[in-house]
Order: sequence, then structure tokens, then C-alpha cells
Amino acid sequence: MPDAYILGIESSCDETAAAVVRSGEQLISNVVASQIATHQPYGGVVPELASREHLRAIVPVVRQALAEAKHTYDSVDAIAVTQGPGLAGALLVGISYAKALAFALDKPLIAVNHLEGHIHAVLLEERQKGNRDLQFPVLALVVSGGHTHLYLASQSGDSWSYENIGHTRDDAAGEAFDKVAKLLGLGYPGGPIIDRLSPFGDPKAVKFPPAQIKHRDRRGRHDGKELLHDDGRPRFDFSYSGIKTAMLRYIEANQMHPAIEARRKALAAVTNPKLEDYCANCDQLTLDLVASFQRALVDDLVGRTMAAAKAHDVATLFVTGGVAANQELRQAFERAGGSQGLPVYFPSRPLSTDNAAMIAAAAYPKFLSKDFAPMDFSAEAGMLLR
Ligand code: KG4
Ligand code: ZN
Repeated sequence: MPDAYILGIESSCDETAAAVVRSGEQLISNVVASQIATHQPYGGVVPELASREHLRAIVPVVRQALAEAKHTYDSVDAIAVTQGPGLAGALLVGISYAKALAFALDKPLIAVNHLEGHIHAVLLEERQKGNRDLQFPVLALVVSGGHTHLYLASQSGDSWSYENIGHTRDDAAGEAFDKVAKLLGLGYPGGPIIDRLSPFGDPKAVKFPPAQIKHRDRRGRHDGKELLHDDGRPRFDFSYSGIKTAMLRYIEANQMHPAIEARRKALAAVTNPKLEDYCANCDQLTLDLVASFQRALVDDLVGRTMAAAKAHDVATLFVTGGVAANQELRQAFERAGGSQGLPVYFPSRPLSTDNAAMIAAAAYPKFLSKDFAPMDFSAEAGMLLR
């Protein structure tokens, strides 16, 4: 099979991205235009603004990805684009542009699930390092701003399939990072800020209760079956709304509101605040709270994922998605994997958060099996991964 160069396009949330990847195994170029500055004043992603920014960025970002790869529109073999899940308006910008390119250039068009992309970010980088010896079963934790999902991934010929064995019942882990950072006046996005501030606090200072996963039957009783799949196997669900409520209560009980308001104002006055600016505006109580929150979240993610890995007797664990960039999470998974004898793989930090290289990589098996998208396919905001 000759090499295939796939142009990937990603616009599902607040990053406009394009990349060229060779045969799912070599990253040739990877361009990401972040919209953080646009959404920062609002403390979260504003969907209408996201679509507008994607419209502005998509053409130059694709052009730059091709130029950096020393490719032209004509020289790539296929166009791959994120179909979902994500913000409908944002997805449509990438999809419309990808369709226009595929139509004008007469190239195959490949629709990719964003979550599958996160999983293939790991595969791309492992292949690039020369590691082709993947042991199945593979368990993948996709942990991002929108998802905290566990999938068993399998491969048959060129095609991949996925079985969901657990997901968050409420907030995603990244969403919890973002909401807690907002509650504490630390700005957006919260994950990277909390990641960098946590080493300055005491992670044992504040105890957060472990997540309670409750589910009631139709009569409102706890039926005890909530942790089981239909076929009786255990589920491994997550829940992060409790930790956020506990954080709110702690803030109220310790009368932290005036200090939070002062921090919010001070940080808003700084363009591109640096670690020193965050530290200068955080007292020890806040740093301890941040470190304790991160520890509670990491312990929960690692504990449930390792339990799932054990129950399904998996041979390989992938941890991917924006939150997989977190330093403490990586170390905790490496320690847990080491003690259970389970190899754990992460993408590099740039490929943990949203990018288009992962979309181009996930498209390669579909390119091989000629699993092309029709010109009338549409965005699927709530797309499931199967
Ligand atoms: O995968 P991603 O870029 O977009 C989605 O698909 O959602 O993930 C973004 C999420 C945000 O919630 C962000 O706060 C979180 O990932 N994040 C982190 C870190 N970097 C990004 N969370 C914890 N630690 C980090 N270093
Ligand atoms: Zn993502």
C-alpha cells in the first residue's frame, strides 16, 4: 500500500485545527488556532462566538497546515473532518469547508468521530515511535472538557470498534476543572491553571467526599442495578457534580467570596496572566483547596479506570483527551499501571488537547477500507462512538 497523506480538519469546540498525517503513523504538520482569548472574558465557550472564530480561522489554518507539510490542496489523498460530538455550529464550519475542498479537488471525504480521534492520537504517536506491537484488549479513558468515557477498543482488519463501559453521569472531568477554576476566580480554561497551581498547595488539606453514583428505578427507589450493564457486567461510571457542590460549600463556609472577587478583578486586568500572576493572587487556603480538588479528581479517575481495567482484564490502557495533559494525572496513572503491570500510554501534551492530527490519524483505517462519507452527511452534535 503506497503512503496516504490525509488532511485532517477539526472544529468541534474552541480550537480550529488542521494537520497532515502520513498513513496514520507520521505527523507531517499540525496547526491549532486557539480561541481561548475570545472566550476568556465569559469564563467558558460561547457557541456563537466559536462558530464565528472558526469561520475566520479555517482557511488560513488549513493553508498553513498544507504549507508546513510542503503539500498542496492537490497533493493530499483525502480530506478528513470531525463529524461530532461537539457544538453543532462549530462542527458545521469544518464540515462545510471539508466538503467544499473534497468536491472541488475530487478527493475522498472521511467523517471522523472526535472521541475516536482522541484514541488515535495515542496510536499515531506510538507508531511514530516505532511501537506497533499493540496488545489487546485495549481500554481507553477519554477525559476532556465534554467527556469522561471508558471504551474497550478492538480492531478487526482495518476497522476499529468501541464498546462504552462507563461514562460520566453529569459533569465531565475537564468541565469540573473549568467550573471550579471559575468558582475560585482563576479564569478559563481551568484545567491548565489548576494543573500548574496544585504543586504549591497541600493536596491533603481539604477532604472531598468520594463520588456517589446513584440511580433510581421508576418508583424512585435505588434498585442496586445501576452499576450493571444490561448483560449483568459492572459499569464504571463517573460523577463530578458532587465535588463541585462540596467546593461551593467550602467557599461559603470559609467566607472566601471577597478574596475570590478581588482575584477575579486582578487577573482580568492582566493580559495573558502567567504562573507568577496566579500565585501572587492566591493565598495558601486557595492553593490548598486547588491541590486537594485536583487530588480528589485524579484519585477518582485513576481508581475507577484501574478497577475497569482489572474487571475487563485489559492488556493496554490509553489515557487521552484534554485532561490527559494533567501532570498529576499522568504520574498517578503511571504509578498505578506500574503496580498492576499494565502498560499505560498517553498522547504528548500537544496531542492530548484538541487537534486535527488525531482526526487525520483516525481517518486512515477508513481510507484503507474506503469508508467514505457522502456529500450530504451532516454534523452530529451528540454523536456516539461505537
Ligand atoms: O480535549 P479537549 O481539548 O476538548 C474537548 O474535547 O473537550 O479538552 C479540553 C478540556 C478543558 O476542560 C480543559 O480545562 C482540560 O481539557 N485541560 C486540562 C489540562 N489541559 C486541558 N485539565 C487538567 N489539566 C490540564 N493540564
Ligand atoms: Zn476533545
